Amino acid sequence: MDISKVLKVWYQKHHRPLPWRKINDPYKIWLSEIILQQTRVEQGLPYYNRFVADYPTVRHLAKAPEQEVMKLWQGLGYYSRARNLHSAAKSIVADYHGVFPNSYESIKSLKGIGDYTAAAIASFAYNLPHAVVDGNVYRVLARLFAISTPIDSTAGKKEFALLAQKLLDKSDPATHNQAIMELGAVVCKPAQPDCENCPLRMHCEAYNKGMVSSFPIKENRVKVTARYFNYLMIRYKDSFYLNHRNGNDIWKNLFDLPMIETKSAIAPELLVKSAGWKDLFGAQTVHIEKVRSFKAHKLSHQHLHTTFYSVTIQKSPTSSVWKKFVKVNSQSIENYPIPKIIEHFFQEESIGYGDVKKS
Ligand code: ADE
Repeated sequence: MDISKVLKVWYQKHHRPLPWRKINDPYKIWLSEIILQQTRVEQGLPYYNRFVADYPTVRHLAKAPEQEVMKLWQGLGYYSRARNLHSAAKSIVADYHGVFPNSYESIKSLKGIGDYTAAAIASFAYNLPHAVVDGNVYRVLARLFAISTPIDSTAGKKEFALLAQKLLDKSDPATHNQAIMELGAVVCKPAQPDCENCPLRMHCEAYNKGMVSSFPIKENRVKVTARYFNYLMIRYKDSFYLNHRNGNDIWKNLFDLPMIETKSAIAPELLVKSAGWKDLFGAQTVHIEKVRSFKAHKLSHQHLHTTFYSVTIQKSPTSSVWKKFVKVNSQSIENYPIPKIIEHFFQEESIGYGDVKKS
């Protein structure tokens, strides 16, 4: 059976019309693939449209200030994608005169581009014969051939890459790649796959054995760390403070609030006696107006437990830890890229963004 042919016929009839399909501009395809790496299509689509509108070419993106790019990315998460995107745009201008590279190897040498993204751009933009292997493809192949090798093992990665490449329709790699990913996204879904409407059902080993939900097999469960962030919304006159995150940690180059991280949840009476609190406030009087805890915010490897302290101070702080902070007000925060949990807190407290509509 020609699996590729079945996939293609199914795809022509059933695929979702998405703006990055049927184009071959490598810049826009790259943009869409980076956005879609860890993001669902419905969530990524408005971001894609805003990026294309604000930066219609790689030169526009390269020229933009980093803070502006991060701001446009705000809410999508995995912010290293935006930093790498911006950095790669600059190298395309510097090293390739602004013309997107057109071989698999040169595409892969760009920052933030691995095997999957290089194969996607090479095939969608240039019709080069490189098979994509993303989470969708792993799932479709693992089920279709009932493969027990864990997809996150070295052996698994090799086996699936070889198999995907063997199945690839070399005469039309773009459609083949789109089709197998689309089948994984809309039919061969992780939970509740729609096997009744699958064009490959009769050929699917897992389906025939009644074992669809057993595939794909994973070796390593991700280790999740719990972290405890005690955020401080510190008001001084009409202003408050944001913290520029420039360390090697989550949300690099974004802004959050001054914060004391603790090893476990901590009561306010103890937090005010902690070294972190003393470093920030010294001996000055701090009025705690309100304390609110939120349910854990889940990132892929970390669960963040946040408590927000709304406090006021009477004196302008002077200690050196305050050098990292920027003084802002309700209006000026709109220019700063902030993580979702901070945006959520500001919304709940009606701080800024009041009349700013997200399109
Ligand atoms: N996910 C990753 N790449 C995609 C694409 N090109 N179309 C739809 N979903 C995707």
